Amino acid sequence: MAQAMAAIWATVLILVATGVEVVADTNDLGMNWGMMTSHPIHPKIVVQLLKDNGFKKVKLFDSDPRMVGFLAGTGIEVMLGIPNDQLEFLSDDYGNAKDWVKENCTVHLRKGGVNIKYVAVGNEPFLSSFKGRFTKTTLLAMKNIRKALNEAGVGKKIKVVTPLNADVYESKSDKPSDGAFRSDIKGTMNQIVRFLKDNNAPFVVNIYPFLSLYLNSAFPADFAFFDGGHPIQDKNVQYNNVFEANFDTLIYALKNAGTPNLTIIVGEIGWPTDGHSEANKANAKKTPRASNRGNFERHWGIFDFDGKPKFEMDMSGKGAHKLLVGAKGVKYLPKQWCVLASYATDQNLMSDQIGWACYESDCTALQPGASCSNLDPRRRTSYAFNSYYQMKDQDEDACDFKGIGTVVTQNPSTNSCKFNTQIEVDGATRLSFAYGAIAVLISLVAFLNLL
Ligand SMILES: *[C@@H]1O[C@H](CO)[C@@H](O)[C@H](O)[C@H]1NC(C)=O
Ligand SMILES: *[C@@H]1O[C@H](CO)[C@@H](O)[C@H](O)[C@H]1NC(C)=O
Repeated sequence: MAQAMAAIWATVLILVATGVEVVADTNDLGMNWGMMTSHPIHPKIVVQLLKDNGFKKVKLFDSDPRMVGFLAGTGIEVMLGIPNDQLEFLSDDYGNAKDWVKENCTVHLRKGGVNIKYVAVGNEPFLSSFKGRFTKTTLLAMKNIRKALNEAGVGKKIKVVTPLNADVYESKSDKPSDGAFRSDIKGTMNQIVRFLKDNNAPFVVNIYPFLSLYLNSAFPADFAFFDGGHPIQDKNVQYNNVFEANFDTLIYALKNAGTPNLTIIVGEIGWPTDGHSEANKANAKKTPRASNRGNFERHWGIFDFDGKPKFEMDMSGKGAHKLLVGAKGVKYLPKQWCVLASYATDQNLMSDQIGWACYESDCTALQPGASCSNLDPRRRTSYAFNSYYQMKDQDEDACDFKGIGTVVTQNPSTNSCKFNTQIEVDGATRLSFAYGAIAVLISLVAFLNLL
């Protein structure tokens, strides 16, 4: 990520050129801790991982007090999250917001407690794909939460924000200087930025160069990275990558909305590492990071499902690439895998069972161009069987597949395609998350605070 950091500094210069002062340093890097997984790593281990890597900030997508409690005494700055499905409830009735603040926030605020700095109300609630479902409720929920924080006497220390996707703004000409909020939500966005300004709260944005590429195959791939190629010229500024161009589009949109001085936090950025032909570790390493749009969704992040670092990164900004410190003390299930039995011949049964296994578990690595796409049909079936079997904690019955599954102790992985064994999860850690069976956990990504 040396290129990434270098480019972040380049962004700083460009923004100075456009008249906005920007300060960024590596103390401002934080991590997103995602929890949509069948096998969450114990929060204690994740907190240790944050400390080992020197992360001083963490952004959560939820606020389960059992998990947040593990951050007590660490000094790490925390952004609590409120999922979109709670927005209506919180906007409906101030009492609900009051209960939320009491149960999920102020409970942690003792001496030696959790250093909560932000409450993120919703997560990308105005994505076009939500078709306006949360347009009415987001700001109302933000107002109720703020009122409750104020009433609890912590409104100055804890700011209310909402992480938005970069698709809330656009430029009709593709030039950043024509940046403006998307026309269907302009009114709401104007009210939101005013609310943020009145409360001295930052604008949190998620920028994903990968999605530009995914949504448009004509998009120049080079432009999504930080190493140049396909520059675009806008007045006297030249943009060499989509991150910088996108970021400045936001700066202009804020200017146009009459709130040029808002602090901006980049909440998520990065690149997925599997599930798509352009999704791989080499590309992820080149670009800093993403909602439900494709098979790569579970492959975001800088750590694997088991907390191992995926690639080398430069966290210092000084050009020193090294692997992050991985999770310590993660225990794996026994070295055994579920594969297609050698005696299986019924093609219909096989395709039936592979379809079922993949529906229930994670087969995104079998997608065209992904890490296991080159397997022959029998091995593909094995991959699917194993994925399901591991998700079910290697339960014997989960390797039946109408008699054509069998458990082996020899690792069936190939050079490019890894057949995983899942990690051990104790009952207390297995919190019941709404999305249950989704495979990757830690969508841990650069969370960069630009002031
Ligand atoms: C606290 O947060 C959790 C996790 O998001 C949620 O399920 C619960 O309803 C919240 N508590 C209140 C009182 O809203
Ligand atoms: C933004 O900040 C600059 C410099 O501090 C100040 O001169 C300007 O008036 C501010 N603009 C608004 C709209 O607050």
